[in-house]
Amino acid sequence: MKKMGNRISEDKVEKIRNSVDIVDVISEYVQLKKQGRNLIGLCPFHGEKTPSFSVSPEKQLYHCFGCGAGGNVFSFVMATHGYEFLESVKHLARRVNIDLPELEQNEKDKTSTEYNLMVSGSELAAKLYHHLLMNTEQGKNAFQYLKERGFTEEMISTFSLGFAPNTWDTLAHFFEKRKVPLNIMEQIGLLAKRDFDGKYFDRFRDRVMFPIWNKDGKIIGFGGRIIGNEQPKYLNSPESKIFNKSKILYGFHIARPEMRKKNEAVLFEGYVDVITAWQAGVRNGVATLGTAITDEQAKLIRRNAETVIICYDSDRAGLKATYRAIEILEAHNCHIKVASLPEGYDPDDYIQKYGLEKFRNEVIGANQTTMAFKMNFLRKGKNLQNEAERMKYIEDVLSEITSLSKAIERDHYLRQLSQEFSLSLDALKQELYRLYKIKKRNNNSHNDHHLPKMKGKFVTEKKLLPAFHNAERMLLAYMMKDINIACTVQEKIGGNFNIDEYHAIVAHLYAYYGEGNEPNSSQFIQRLNDEKLSRIATEIAMMTISEQLSEQELNDYIKQITNYPKVIEIEKKERLRKEAESREDYKMAANIAMEIIQMKKELKH
Ligand code: CTP
Ligand code: MN
Repeated sequence: MKKMGNRISEDKVEKIRNSVDIVDVISEYVQLKKQGRNLIGLCPFHGEKTPSFSVSPEKQLYHCFGCGAGGNVFSFVMATHGYEFLESVKHLARRVNIDLPELEQNEKDKTSTEYNLMVSGSELAAKLYHHLLMNTEQGKNAFQYLKERGFTEEMISTFSLGFAPNTWDTLAHFFEKRKVPLNIMEQIGLLAKRDFDGKYFDRFRDRVMFPIWNKDGKIIGFGGRIIGNEQPKYLNSPESKIFNKSKILYGFHIARPEMRKKNEAVLFEGYVDVITAWQAGVRNGVATLGTAITDEQAKLIRRNAETVIICYDSDRAGLKATYRAIEILEAHNCHIKVASLPEGYDPDDYIQKYGLEKFRNEVIGANQTTMAFKMNFLRKGKNLQNEAERMKYIEDVLSEITSLSKAIERDHYLRQLSQEFSLSLDALKQELYRLYKIKKRNNNSHNDHHLPKMKGKFVTEKKLLPAFHNAERMLLAYMMKDINIACTVQEKIGGNFNIDEYHAIVAHLYAYYGEGNEPNSSQFIQRLNDEKLSRIATEIAMMTISEQLSEQELNDYIKQITNYPKVIEIEKKERLRKEAESREDYKMAANIAMEIIQMKKELKH
C-alpha cells in the first residue's frame, strides 16, 4: 500500500532506522547539548543564535521550534543532502552496513532495459553533436554563431553544447553502426520515422544542441536552437520515459554544489541565461524548460537551497511569470528575492551589453524583496498623476500588504506609501483593516483562521491556540504514544478532528495501529509519506506530556473538539438573528433565539 520507493521493503527500512541512532547522525552537523530528556543545538536549517533545534534520543525525532523543520533520521538526511527518500535509505544503509541486494538486482535489471538504452543513446548523441561542433567543417558555422554570442570554449564544454548537422541521416547512421535500437531512439525523439518506407531519420537538423540532464547529471533530452531567426526557435525532446520537463531543471547538477554551499539558487527562464550567468560567476543558476515552474521543481530547489533569486526576462510575460513563480516557491517555503533587469533585457542580453561584473553586482546582487517587486509591477502601465489610477495602485498595494506576515514589514510599506503619496498613516491603516476583513470573509472560514501561518510554514504558538486546537494537539500526542488512548478516541469521535492536518494524521494513525503496529512515533511519521504532515506530527510527538492521561482530561479534550463545530454554528445563528432583527422580522429573530438557547444547552453536557 505504501509506496516507499516501492523497492525496499518496509521491514528493511525499519531495520535500517532502528540500527542508526539519530543523535549520531545529527551530531555530525550540529553541536548538541543535553537538556532534560532531549538534546538541543543551533538549527542547521535556518540561521539562529539561540538554539531552538531539539533532538529526542528516546523518540528518535528532531524538531526545530524556530523554522518548523522536523522528522526522523531519514527526513534529516533528505534535508541535509537534498536526497529523495530512497537515496536517504541507501545512504544510511551504507552507514550501518546493511546490504540492499534488492536494489542491486534492480539496478542490474535496469542496464538491460529500455530506460538505460535511452540514457546511453542520449549520451552518445551528445558526444557526437559535441564532436561535430568542435572538430568538423560542418560545425564551423554553429561554432562561429556561438562565438559571436559570447560563448567561450569553457562554456561550450561545461554545458556540452553540440551541433546537429543539416543532414537527414548522420545520427541515424551513427546509431546503426553502434547497434543502438533505432525504435528506442525514436521514442525519445532523437530519430523520427518516415511514413512511406519506415526509414529512420534525424529529428534535429541544423541546430545548436543543448543537452539536458537529470538530477544525477545523465543526459536525458535536448533543446535544439536554430541558428538565426527561423521558427521554431527551439526544438525540444518530447516527453518520454526518461524526459519529463516538469520534474527537472536545466543545469541542476552543475548548480547543485554551489546551491547547497550558498543555500541559494538563481532561477532563470532560458538555457542561454544559465550558461552566460555561469560564465559571469553565478554558478547556482537553473532554468525551467520553457514552462512555468512546477511544484516538483520548487521542491527540488527547496531541498537544496532556502533562498531563490528569480531572474526572469523583464518583459511583460517575464514579470507575470515572476509573479506566478513567487506564489509557487513561497508555498514551498522558499525565501524569495527578485533580480530586476532593465526593461527589454533578458539576463543574457544584459551580460552581453554591460558585462559580467555589472550583472553580478547590479542584477543578482541588488535584488528586491517580493513586495518591492510587486509594487513595481503594479505600477507598470499606470499613470500615477491620474487620481483614479493612483487610487487603484494604492488599493492594490494595500491588498498585497495584507498578506505580509510580519508587522514590521507591513508597517514599513505602509509608511512608504504614506510618504510617497502624502497620505495619513491612520487613513491607510483604516483602509488596510477594511481590506483585511474583506479578505477574511472571502477566504472560506475553514482553513485560515485556525492555523497561525508564517510564510506558509505551519508554526504554532501554544498560547495563541484556541482551546479546541490545543485539545486536538494534546490528544494526538497521547494517541501516538498510547494505543489504548487512540482506541478510546476512535470509539468516541472517530476521525472528527477539526483541523484538516490533524484529521489526516489521525486517519493515518488509526490505519497504522489497525495494521498491528505498536506505538512508535518515528516509524509512524515515516508512514505518513508527506512532508507537511510528518513535520506537524513530529512537532506534536516532541511535545512534553505527562505519563498519564486522566479520564477527566480526556473527556475535556473530546468535548472541546466536538463542541467546536457547534460553536461555529451558534455564531452563525447569532448573525442570522441580528440580521432578522434589523429587517424587523422579530418573529424569525425569536425563533432563531430559541434555537440558539437549545444549542447552547446541548453544548453544556
Ligand atoms: N523555449 C522553447 N521553445 C521556444 C522558445 C523557448 O522551448 N520556441 C524555452 C527554452 O527552454 C528557452 C526558454 O524557453 O531556453 C526561454 O526562451 P527564450 O528566452 O526565448 O530563449 P533563450 O534561452 O534566451 O535563447 P536565446 O537567447 O538563444 O534566444
Ligand atoms: Mn536569450
